[in-house]
Amino acid sequence: MLMTMEQELQLTEEEFRLIRDLIYSHCGLFFDSDSKYLLDKRLVHRLAHHNLPGFRDYYQYLKYDRNKDQELSDIMDILTTNETYFFRESFQLKAFTDEILPELQFLKERDRTLRIWSAGCSTGEEPYTIAMLLLELDLFRGWRIEIVGSDISQRVVQHARKGVYGKSAFRCTDERYLKRFFTETDGGYRICDEVRELVSINHMNLFDANRLALLGKMDLIFCRNVIIYFDLASKKRVIESFYQTLRPGGYLLLGHSESLMNITTAFALRHLKNDMVYQKAATSNGGGLQ
Ligand SMILES: C[S@@+](CC[C@H](N)C(=O)[O-])C[C@H]1O[C@@H](n2cnc3c(N)ncnc32)[C@H](O)[C@@H]1O
Repeated sequence: MLMTMEQELQLTEEEFRLIRDLIYSHCGLFFDSDSKYLLDKRLVHRLAHHNLPGFRDYYQYLKYDRNKDQELSDIMDILTTNETYFFRESFQLKAFTDEILPELQFLKERDRTLRIWSAGCSTGEEPYTIAMLLLELDLFRGWRIEIVGSDISQRVVQHARKGVYGKSAFRCTDERYLKRFFTETDGGYRICDEVRELVSINHMNLFDANRLALLGKMDLIFCRNVIIYFDLASKKRVIESFYQTLRPGGYLLLGHSESLMNITTAFALRHLKNDMVYQKAATSNGGGLQ
């Protein structure tokens, strides 16, 4: 029976499992059997790109080629979901500005540093939102503030570093932020230097333990709408590394559809007025954050 070119290029069950498992161990993204078509559609162009006759060869390339790390990094641009916008999840941001930040200001008054990590920051709207809120609050004048944004996709990291956004990024943004923190350019709206100076954007895989170890301790971690794409084992691994990265008493803010249920009991669930958030226990001597 003659096979068309397209049929030849379709992922077989076995190729799907091999490639799926390889991607999973690289970055925690898990494609279940219902996503075979999706993986096929997104990766088929890579065969032509590398001049490979089929998915079996592509698997060999991903596993053994000397450029395999680069290829794995490149396909993160087409396999990840990067939906985001400024001022996403307003209830949580209100808990952040009205309840968490005043507490941190009080507890950290002595060392006057604040370190916040936006893990899985996509094109940067989240870390820049955090920076704008901090600047507007003006609680931390004279403090050393660091907001670290990170993502596994090079494409979104580059976008975040450029800091220019189209209209849809502002669907939940009050006009006053646009006026104060952006300037209009040909391609959209550019984030101003005052905000940018508080934020560093990094290319980082949440499963790269060596890279994570270099981050240093954080007072607060935003990881919103990232672990929904992971299976339980990957969620546990990532949350454990957040726990290690947080200072005692530090906060973990997940997306509104995410929770630590069945993942860990290491964090306390705090019912704040505006939202529920997770917190790592403070030290046993009752002191504040360290
Ligand atoms: C849906 S976006 C969420 C953006 C933002 N946190 C928000 O809530 O608006 C999820 C981001 O997580 C990133 N991501 C997925 N797996 C990752 C991993 N293993 N390491 C780092 N980033 C990852 C994706 O590239 C994507 O940009």
